[in-house]
This record gives sequence, structure tokens and C-alpha cells, in this order.
Amino acid sequence: MKRILITSAIPSVNGVKHLGNLVGSMLPADVYARFCRARGYETLAICATDEHGAPIELAAAEEGIPVSEYCDKWHAVQADLGARFGLSWDHFGRSSSDQNREMTWHFARQLWKNGHLDVRTTKQAYSATDGRFLPDRYVIGTCPHCGNINARGDQCEVCTRVLDPIDLIEPRSAVSGAKDIEIRDSRHLFLKQTNFVDQLRAWIASHKNDWPVIVTSIANKWLDEGLQDRGITRDLEWGFPVPDDIADGQLAGKVFYVWFDAPIEYIGATKEWADKNNLGDDAWRDWWHGDRAKDVTYVEFMGKDNVPFHTIIFPAMILGTGEPWKKVDRLKGFNYINYDGAKFSTSSKRGIFMDGALDILPADYWRYYLMANSPESSDSMFTWEHFQGVINKDLADVLGNFVNRVTKFCVARFDGAVPSEGEYGDDEKALAARLDTLVAQYTEHLEACEFRKALAELRAIWVAANEYITVAAPWTHFKADRAKAAVGIRMGLNLIHLFGHLCWPVMPTAARAIHHAIQNAPEIIPWPSKPMAEFLGQLEPGQKIAPPDVLFAKIADEQVAEWRARFSGTGL
Ligand code: MF3
Ligand code: ZN
Repeated sequence: MKRILITSAIPSVNGVKHLGNLVGSMLPADVYARFCRARGYETLAICATDEHGAPIELAAAEEGIPVSEYCDKWHAVQADLGARFGLSWDHFGRSSSDQNREMTWHFARQLWKNGHLDVRTTKQAYSATDGRFLPDRYVIGTCPHCGNINARGDQCEVCTRVLDPIDLIEPRSAVSGAKDIEIRDSRHLFLKQTNFVDQLRAWIASHKNDWPVIVTSIANKWLDEGLQDRGITRDLEWGFPVPDDIADGQLAGKVFYVWFDAPIEYIGATKEWADKNNLGDDAWRDWWHGDRAKDVTYVEFMGKDNVPFHTIIFPAMILGTGEPWKKVDRLKGFNYINYDGAKFSTSSKRGIFMDGALDILPADYWRYYLMANSPESSDSMFTWEHFQGVINKDLADVLGNFVNRVTKFCVARFDGAVPSEGEYGDDEKALAARLDTLVAQYTEHLEACEFRKALAELRAIWVAANEYITVAAPWTHFKADRAKAAVGIRMGLNLIHLFGHLCWPVMPTAARAIHHAIQNAPEIIPWPSKPMAEFLGQLEPGQKIAPPDVLFAKIADEQVAEWRARFSGTGL
């Protein structure tokens, strides 16, 4: 049996994520995880909140509560929103967990023991007004690479380059706005990434055919520009302290950098999962360590800004331990989705956030739209007109209407039971043959995590069903040829049953409602493995069905106008 380990970039705990965050990481990871479970693969889907770092400290200070309380609160909010979006993680952990602290210390000790860490005296931004060092996002200024005047000290959001606070032009404090920033000495631990250049280059080259171009090109660009050793500790209060046995206590009072412990949380969270379920240590090692995890395929999902961390920095950390931790096999990177002509913006609340999205429509509308327009080969754009068009056409007209017409007619004319009269003929055979091809392609694209292509096939399957029923026209034939109408409706009901199976990874709630119209569905709706001629002849004549309520409501122009105003970020 195949064993599939799935992670997505762990969202920072601060605040509610917008749909741009969701579409490049957690959502495709969930669609893939559900698909794998439906296929019968042994699947483990892990995510967590990323709870350390300057942005979290800053956000907690802004809310005026202790950082740990802040993290508790927002972790719970995100876990709840994830569940309501249908994100079916096996575990949604926390990077500040005890398990992750142990794992982080283990990694750091191994790296220290193997000579891959150095203690260096560095120049750090210090504000006398604030009375503290200002690492990472505590400093804002102009990006020396692209001129973005609001670049943060850790990474420029515009050009995605990783920065050092002291590189910023005209730096100012994010806490107070103070410009009295001086440079002081502070000792830190460095990861000697340069030790791993050749190994990383060979590893990345070995994936040049199975990773998306966006991933290999970002990774190679980093290598070509020359790797630098990286500071992995910070002058912050909140974070995992550096243990005394590393560098004889020279790092007392410092904490690990958030980007050091965050990727380790993939493993930490797997241990949290094993502990929570009382499975013992072998259970998490089976996914991560040595021979135990030899047959695991590890698939990661993330936006392009995360790619350097997952192709260079985290793999270097793993290599440096000298231990056989699982490295990513398939890395699915995404471009960005923009909102109505510009970027989604968390700071100016521009665009649609997970909570607002669920206030106005069920999760499945969003899941379908976002996956069908996933920013795979380039950035994509959310517009309300496009969204309205896709929902009204694909979901309401093509899918929903088919289910409603067929089930309602079955109730009106065939007593709400699968009709028994007549035999499948050439039209039904031709349809089954066509669906064999379409379902195989849909399956293949999902297997390859090619989501746009996959969803185009799913839609083509609904369209083929509509074309069939238009020709079969049971409503027209009913009076003159009841058996012919019965064949059409029997096939129609079998097609609805098929949709229940095929839609489940993408739209779990709607798929369940569709399946329930025909018969009860198991928790995991399995992938159809039979040839279509067989699958579509499965329903027992006489079996009762139950038409669902309207599956997908159309979006009206007035709603679009209202939502556009609501999500414009202008303070409404
Ligand atoms: N929190 C980071 C972000 O939002 C992602 C961390 S992914 C991990 O971009 F690998 F570091 F865990
Ligand atoms: Zn920049």
C-alpha cells in the first residue's frame, strides 16, 4: 500500500488567513489528502500554527495580551476556521509545543555536534527609544533590491528577497516608529549552509523533472546567487531558548529564530499526533525516520515565498544532522492569487479572509472556485464577476441543476425509486466509454497535483452527463415510451452517484449531499475503481432516492455589489 505524508506551509498564528494564503498551501493539501484517502492510500496530513517570531510578539503587544495567551486564542480560531473549510488534517499542531521544543533542541544539538553551527558576533539594530534589539520585522525600511519602501527586516514582500534588518535603507522601528536606530554587537548562532551547497545542488537537480518549474527555478536562483550562512537565533523573549550545552552557554537569553523551529514542527506535530492518540514513538518515526519511512512519499504544498526555506534551508538543516530524516519528495509550489486588480493584504484587510468567506457562502463554493483557478503556472486573479460566473455556471447550472432535475423527475414519475424498465443501449455504452477516459484523466491530474487540469476534467464529466441527458430526454419520452425514460433516469441517478464520489476531495460537503440523494455515504467516499460501464449500472432498481434541497444557489448581481464593497478593505 502507498503511504503518503502531506504537509502544507504552517500558517503564522497571527490572525485569520486570507484566501490567497489558503489556495497556495492548506487547501490543495487537503484536496490531495482526501484524494489519497479515497484511493485507499495510507495518508497522514499534518499542519500547525507557526507561533514564534517577531510578528507574533508584535501582534500580541498590539492586542495587549501575553504572547502565549495570544497564541492560544488565534490557534483556536484557525483550527475552527480550518474545520469549517473542510480541512481534514490528521493533526493541526502548534510550533510552540513541548514536542517541537524537544525536536528543535535535538536538531540544534546534532548540528552543533557535527560542526555545522558557529557562534558569531553580529551587528544588530537596536533602538534606544524602545530599549531593545529590533530583529526581523521589528524594523521597517526601504528594500535595497527593489526599492519597496515598506520592506520588513526579514523579507521583502514585493521581491521576496530575504533581508537582514541592517540592510534596510532609512530603517525605523515597527514598535514606536523611532528612527534612532543604532547598530550594536550581539552574539548569535549561524547555520553553515555553505557546507551543503554541492549536496543541495545535486538533490535539487534530481528533482528537475518532478518539481514544478517555479520551485526548481527559485531554488537554483538561490544557489546561483551564492548561499550565505544564516543566523538561526534572535534577541527576542518569545521562542525556544538555546540550551546551555550548545556553545557553553554563550547564547544565554537568546531564542531560536522562527524559521529554524517552524519546519521542524512538521516532525514535531507528527509527534504531537502520535502522543495525542497514544500511538508511541514508532508511530511518528514511521513517517519520518530512516528505514521505517522508506516507503513514504512526502508531498509538500506552499506558496512561492516559502520555496527557499523548503528547498535550501530546511534540507540543509536535515543534512547537517547526519540523521536519516525524510526529505520532501514532491514539492508543489504556487504563485499568488491577487484580489480584484491588486494584492490581498492582511495589513490593510484587503481581500477575502477565511471568516468573511464563510459568512457569505459555504466552503465548497470557495474550494471549487479556488482549485479550478489555482495559481499554478502563473499568478491568478480573483474578480467577483469571474467568481459569480463560475459558481452560477459550473456549480448551479451544470452540476446542481442536473442533480435536481433528475432526482425531482424520478420522484414525480417513478415514485422516487430507481426505475427498472428498459436496457442500457448504445448511447449509454458510448457515455461510459467517454467517462472512462475523462475519469482516468481526472485521476491522473489529481495524482500529479495538477489542480486546474483536474478540475477542468471534473467539469467535463458533468458536461458529458448533461449532454447525455439532453439527448436521452426522459421528460420528453415519458409519455410515449416509459421504458426509454426509465433508462435515462436510471443512468442519470447512477451519474449523480458517480458525482458524489468524484467531487468529494474538492467539495466534501456538497459531495456528501449529492451522494446522500442516492444513498448513504461512508465517511471517506472511495474513489471509483470499477470501469464506468459497471459503476454506472450499480444502483438496484427499486431503491429509494431522496432529492436534495437546492445544492448551489446562484449568486445575484446585488450580492456581488454588496460583497465587493464589504471586502474592498476601505474600512467598511
Ligand atoms: N509561517 C510561514 C508563512 O506563513 C510558513 C512556515 S512553513 C515552515 O510563510 F516550514 F516553516 F513550517
Ligand atoms: Zn524588495
